[in-house]
Amino acid sequence: MPEPSLLERTGVSKATFERLVAFRRDLHRHPELSFEEERTAGRIAAELDRLGIAYRSGVAGTGIVADLPGREVGPAVALRADMDALPIAEQTGLPFASERDGVMHACGHDGHTSMVLGAAELLAAGPPPPLPVRFIWQPAEELGEGAKAMVEAGVLDGVGMIFGGHVDRHYPAGAFAISDGAVNASTDEFEIMIAGRGGHGARPHEALDAIVVGSLLITALQTVVSREVDPAHPSVVSVGSFHAGSAPNVIADRATLEGTIRAQHPATRAHLCASVERIAKAIGAVHGAEVTVKVIPGTPPVINSPAMAELARRAARAIVGESGVVPLHTANMGGEDFAFFLDVIRGCYVRVGAQVPGREGFPAHSSRFDIDEDALAAGAAFFARVAVVAGEALLEEGRG
Ligand code: NI
Repeated sequence: MPEPSLLERTGVSKATFERLVAFRRDLHRHPELSFEEERTAGRIAAELDRLGIAYRSGVAGTGIVADLPGREVGPAVALRADMDALPIAEQTGLPFASERDGVMHACGHDGHTSMVLGAAELLAAGPPPPLPVRFIWQPAEELGEGAKAMVEAGVLDGVGMIFGGHVDRHYPAGAFAISDGAVNASTDEFEIMIAGRGGHGARPHEALDAIVVGSLLITALQTVVSREVDPAHPSVVSVGSFHAGSAPNVIADRATLEGTIRAQHPATRAHLCASVERIAKAIGAVHGAEVTVKVIPGTPPVINSPAMAELARRAARAIVGESGVVPLHTANMGGEDFAFFLDVIRGCYVRVGAQVPGREGFPAHSSRFDIDEDALAAGAAFFARVAVVAGEALLEEGRG
């Protein structure tokens, strides 16, 4: 007997799988930027109409929220997907490559949207899930703003647990990487303004050189992560832009630096933000320059509680077996606004293996990013299953 194929193991029918692939390719062809996901939302709504699932559209702008009743009344299990694309010119050469200049689904959100839709189809076709299931398609994950807007629009009202995921090129389709603890980093940004005193390049003693202060500051910031943070706690401080000066023989009176701060632990996050400010101000003081620091809060880290991760693993094992469920290989310092949902309720964020077999894998946000579409079946089956597993767990808690 040959090994059953991934599709056979997921229990997703060939017809459903083909529909998901066609749906994903249609989204891929017509990508939309953050908070502009009008067409995408319209396509989701049309599919929900076909499935006879009630929904609300226009939530937080372009978001969609659908509800499938459960066998019993009680807290819902939410399944979340993001819908937005990126301002990138696609270079994959795929037959269904983007038809919109300079916009591309380069992060797989077309896949996530299809997976959650697939879960809706699977759940609607089967016996009712233990408790209601809420399907959430959010706008603007790439800006780190969509999830927050959806929470503010009340999409978590009546929800007990939430699950979400991301395609991942480090694991083959049919693998799920599910870890306890931090799985995405916080994403704060900083802006540092240095006010010196301009002058003639030949007479530095008459001026206060903002470029020199900025350079010293950049060097000093390198010690935050290397000398102040526990090496076991992944963290990053990067200066991404440095603007100053106007001519070779003029000393710059002003410099502006911008950068990003990443951490996986809330305490480390707070420490890094405070240190950047402290060091910037101190370097300014040493040289007599006026320095102002602005830290712009981004998304918190995504932290899976062990209990929620265990529910997700149970669901994944039911589809791909013990060997298909692994912990994350490495810390991921990327951000993910799913964190805003986890600020409110319990849940788990998983990585869905989507490595393209036999080809070099390009990272997310690359103009050549692509996924193995078998991941759509695995992801849809996982989301449907976790809705059942989590629903049972919530019922159990209610009885306990
Ligand atoms: Ni993404």
